[in-house]
Amino acid sequence: MIAVSEDFRILTSQLIDFDLEAYLEAVERPLPECVRLNTLKFREEKVVEFMYGRGWRLEKLPWVRHGYRVLEAPISNLGDSIEHMLGLIYLQGPVSMLPAEVLDVRVGDRCLDLCAAPGSKSTQLAQLVGLEGVVVANDVSQKRVKALSFNLQRWGAVNSVVTLADGRLFSRWGAGLFDRVLVDVPCSSLGVASKDWSVLKKYRQNHGKRLQPLQLALLEAGYRCLKAGGVIVYSTCTIMPVENEAVVSRFLERHPEARLEEVRPEGLKWRRPLEEFGGERFNSEVEKCFKCYPYDNGGEGFFIVKIRGGD
Ligand SMILES: C[S@@+](CC[C@H](N)C(=O)[O-])C[C@H]1O[C@@H](n2cnc3c(N)ncnc32)[C@H](O)[C@@H]1O
Repeated sequence: MIAVSEDFRILTSQLIDFDLEAYLEAVERPLPECVRLNTLKFREEKVVEFMYGRGWRLEKLPWVRHGYRVLEAPISNLGDSIEHMLGLIYLQGPVSMLPAEVLDVRVGDRCLDLCAAPGSKSTQLAQLVGLEGVVVANDVSQKRVKALSFNLQRWGAVNSVVTLADGRLFSRWGAGLFDRVLVDVPCSSLGVASKDWSVLKKYRQNHGKRLQPLQLALLEAGYRCLKAGGVIVYSTCTIMPVENEAVVSRFLERHPEARLEEVRPEGLKWRRPLEEFGGERFNSEVEKCFKCYPYDNGGEGFFIVKIRGGD
């Protein structure tokens, strides 16, 4: 039986579309094993052929290019596989592959990943921009930047640059420089509690409220980095409206020129974001965001918003 804090219980009882029993059942199970294949080193068919020859059985994920569910593998710990060590595959949750996919990255784009470590989405961006493009992968944590650098190196991402800085500073350094920006913010991680149940026991009411100003400031900084007509994606792996709907709604109050685009991926169940929570009514545009709970797809819970900057 997974232990949850009283605050978690109280707060989720106020979420009108949330089923605690289904949630706990879902996060009790490990995430399905999925991989993204590296197209920077070889053509995708070549990697698939190589892996099939070594006993892998894969099933394509419909909502993301290069993403597969692992049906069978020659080794129980996929992180110890030769394919992983050679940087032919990246082990990544199935829904976690969606934010970089919906960013509409084009070959040759100049991309910024503002909160990038340990690099699952930066490696994805690196393969989508190709060798003609550039990814600036930033994170504030020195320890996590080491993992980010290692993963980008393993991936053969010679088109990527790693920076160690508070992402909020990019509003000064990077203003107007990027075609695409990903802001995958630090959050309460309640959508990926299957990786670490302790987040449920430690959760306190003020947790999300404390994170919100940083999340909003990172989104704001990322938005300033966009070239005219560029696209920014904000994502969290949590279920709390204070870090999701409320952040987007407050951002839109400050930026009436920003246009939200619908995120409706093929093959994934999504649910309508809330219209209000805790006495706060959200901007009606918020309904265009993608939201799912862990029990919707047997994967992670995520919230994703796609914004096109003004001209
Ligand atoms: C959800 S994780 C990012 C996961 C990453 N995008 C990936 O897919 O592998 C959030 C990251 O934000 C970083 N972070 C926290 N505060 C930050 C700040 N002020 N500026 C930049 N990064 C920050 C954390 O160190 C953490 O690595």
